[in-house]
Amino acid sequence: MLKPLPEHMDDTGSYPDPISLVEYPHPALRKRARPVTVFDQRLRGFCARMFAVMEAEKGVGLAAPQVGVPARIFITDHLRRKDAPGAGDPRIWINPRIEQPEGETSYEEGCLSFPGMYSKVMRHNRFVIHWQDVDGAERSQRLDVEAGDFLGIVVQHELDHLDGKLFVDHLSPAQLTLLRRRLREMEADYRKATGKTGAPLRR
Ligand code: NI
Repeated sequence: MLKPLPEHMDDTGSYPDPISLVEYPHPALRKRARPVTVFDQRLRGFCARMFAVMEAEKGVGLAAPQVGVPARIFITDHLRRKDAPGAGDPRIWINPRIEQPEGETSYEEGCLSFPGMYSKVMRHNRFVIHWQDVDGAERSQRLDVEAGDFLGIVVQHELDHLDGKLFVDHLSPAQLTLLRRRLREMEADYRKATGKTGAPLRR
């Protein structure tokens, strides 16, 4: 008789340990992530490891695909403080979705998978985000970027990662021109390290 798979294997497989950040043009950044269905100690452990990576890289957000895991999980700490790790507002967002988007706003964004690169991206100004917490409880929050919710920018950027979308996909040709040289360097580094082309931007 076949043994049933362990519970945690039914969505993302086991969460890796250790984890490390993947950078452009790693193909993991282009995968659509799968919903999380099991809320257990392995999920908590994985989120703790994600916080360690985000803190080490001095980020305000990190999505599971950025550590090579195709699961609908991201973490944020939009009030992260260099001098006092853990003193900000660390949050875990699982199976998130945005509803009732209104208006537009822009912010100069960067991404841990694109070190040293920044550009203005258009985003929704107001919306409601629904998600599950690490225990699986349903949560929601209304965010208004122009009223001061910087978190609204962070969650839209991270939510994109769960659909294989990157901040560079939002840029105009003129904006991309400014980043082109650095993108090419990263593509060359990836080829040198892996012997593969990965998933370079086709624009
Ligand atoms: Ni990012």
